[in-house]
Amino acid sequence: MSELKNNIKLFGGALLHGADYNPEQWLHMPDVLDEDIALMKKSNCNVMAINIFGWSSIEPREGVYHFEDLDRVINKLYENDIKIILATPTGARPNWLSKKYIETNRVTETGLRCKSGLRHNHCYTSPIFREKARCIVEKLATRYKKHPGIILWHISNEFEGECHCPLCQEAFRNWLREKYDHDINKLNIAWWTKFWSHTYVDFDEIESPSSIGEYWVHGQNIDWKRFVTYQTIDYMKEEIKIIREITPHIPITTNTHDYVHLGRGINYWELMKHIDIVSWDNYPKWHNNTIENWASAAQSGFIHDINRALKGGQPYLMMESSPSATNWHPVAKLLRPGMQNLAGIQAIAHGSNSVQYFQWRKSLGSFEKFHGAVVDHYSSDQTRVFKEVTKLGEALSKMGELSNTRVKAKVALIYDWENFWGIDDSIAPNADKKAYFETCVEHYKQFWKRGISVDVISMDVALEAYDMVIAPMLYMVKDGVGKRIETFCENGGVFLTTYWSGIVDENDLCFRTGRPGPLRNVLGIWSEEIDALYEGEQNHIKMLTTNERYQTTLFCDLVHLEGAQALAVYEEDFYSGRPSLTRNVYGKGYAYYICSRNETRFFDDFYEDLLTQHGVKGALKNVLPKGVTVSKRSNQEKDYYIIQNYTDCEQVVILDEGTYASVFGVETHCGNLTLSPYGYCVLKKK
Ligand code: GLA
Ligand code: ZN
Repeated sequence: MSELKNNIKLFGGALLHGADYNPEQWLHMPDVLDEDIALMKKSNCNVMAINIFGWSSIEPREGVYHFEDLDRVINKLYENDIKIILATPTGARPNWLSKKYIETNRVTETGLRCKSGLRHNHCYTSPIFREKARCIVEKLATRYKKHPGIILWHISNEFEGECHCPLCQEAFRNWLREKYDHDINKLNIAWWTKFWSHTYVDFDEIESPSSIGEYWVHGQNIDWKRFVTYQTIDYMKEEIKIIREITPHIPITTNTHDYVHLGRGINYWELMKHIDIVSWDNYPKWHNNTIENWASAAQSGFIHDINRALKGGQPYLMMESSPSATNWHPVAKLLRPGMQNLAGIQAIAHGSNSVQYFQWRKSLGSFEKFHGAVVDHYSSDQTRVFKEVTKLGEALSKMGELSNTRVKAKVALIYDWENFWGIDDSIAPNADKKAYFETCVEHYKQFWKRGISVDVISMDVALEAYDMVIAPMLYMVKDGVGKRIETFCENGGVFLTTYWSGIVDENDLCFRTGRPGPLRNVLGIWSEEIDALYEGEQNHIKMLTTNERYQTTLFCDLVHLEGAQALAVYEEDFYSGRPSLTRNVYGKGYAYYICSRNETRFFDDFYEDLLTQHGVKGALKNVLPKGVTVSKRSNQEKDYYIIQNYTDCEQVVILDEGTYASVFGVETHCGNLTLSPYGYCVLKKK
């Protein structure tokens, strides 16, 4: 489906504002639907995602369908100009299904068959589950195919998890047979199974990784994770096939998780190849006393930037976020006045075309009864949360022109799922302190605070569009990636990586060509060994040009120069005087290597120099106050500046010369701009 078609249909010159809506929970209170619709209008909501957990309402018993209530909801929403995102209800199974067809319940990695209950826990291989899901999806699609209110399909909900049942074991073995050309020796070599004498004679002997069986064969673990992604997608494609046949005119999304699951579960780069519009569920820990609020914003911004990049910069949706407290956070903190609006605007700033919440109305019972919602148990329009949501809705209604703009990043940061899996599994050099996600975010913050847009990409994405590529801890380097980085630098690109890079290939087997493997040539270094420091232990590095010293901890890579130049050296221990930061001139470009895990002050100074030297600029020329960032969205005529203050004090931003026209938040403006605590504004310039 063409991108244009998606955008016109979905966004139609407007930004979406709405929530997950579960009216099936309120059927025994018939007044609630009308009350909800009135409140939706009042709060400036223009979209609702429905039927996400509605399976047992529309198919209360096997093969018995009741659509009247859903009809009523869909018609009412439509009559009231509220767009509908219609979910296939396969995120949770009805009890009748898991009781009668026990094979649809997952089996744990230790072989225990789960009981009926919870959600997102079906066996995706089970032919019965697939059949029952196909039936309900077909019924839904057929019933609503002509309904003009439906703008988007929402496939299932937050795909996740794995099943180890006999059906999945056999599917895994078949997947391996295909992958290794039915040659068990190929698999034995890729998995290095002579280690501890675990050679396989036949594919039939293979089982999924298990804590009571095999779990230290890294090649097996990573193939299992790839299989789980494959199998989840294979299932999802069955739903998609039906939907595409019956409603080819309605685009498709599936909503993904926030950072808790990033990298640990399904590889979203693979998942998103099969859908039209990316959407994700965002639950940052705002006002967290262990990190500053702007750092939470940067972390959430990082994930926004993955989601934007997943479909090459096409607008995506923030399908869920809490308009208030998130009940499953250990501390269900209230959002301070202004923060709810700012968190919504952050999504728009990074390229989302929607601000959506979980949930519209708080349930009276069960696990999420204390989760933030637009409408509380006491359904009043006078609550602080309702008023804030209403205010944001009004603001978004004035920013429709943003829907046809894009964030265009010249910098990319590689955060790669398979690399994550490999690093996570490795037992050294500092096994519990690898912190791949956190390390990537640490680099990303340097761009965030300067208002420089970054695409967060996998190692498979083409690099030509970028001027600078940052790849912290690129432990796994898949086939061809080294060459692509060489070409990128040859053509003038600036590449940066760190310690613990270029260690293993895609089978998680170590390179024999000397670390950093396929990156050795472009970086012009040979990493001979890497030292691990105990927590609390430190070394120092000294910059050779400025003599500035920085503390370094945990990882110290010991490299030899092979054409690169040392920019800093270690100061202590037996490797005192050896390079700790290097730069290689490669073709028209440069390749940098940071050898150790350094303190934040190093990042601040190093990136300041790096970005100045290579002419990488933020959306505004002047330095931004701490806790403030600017994002730019553009179309062919105009640049839009979304200026955000994540601190609880007033902040002053110095705009570039010239006059900025107002979109929201301030009048036409030039010079200094004052932002209120947690304030924001949107300006534009030709
Ligand atoms: C997830 C789910 C929602 C809801 C929220 C609560 O993102 O998709 O159904 O449970 O979490 O934060
Ligand atoms: Zn299974």
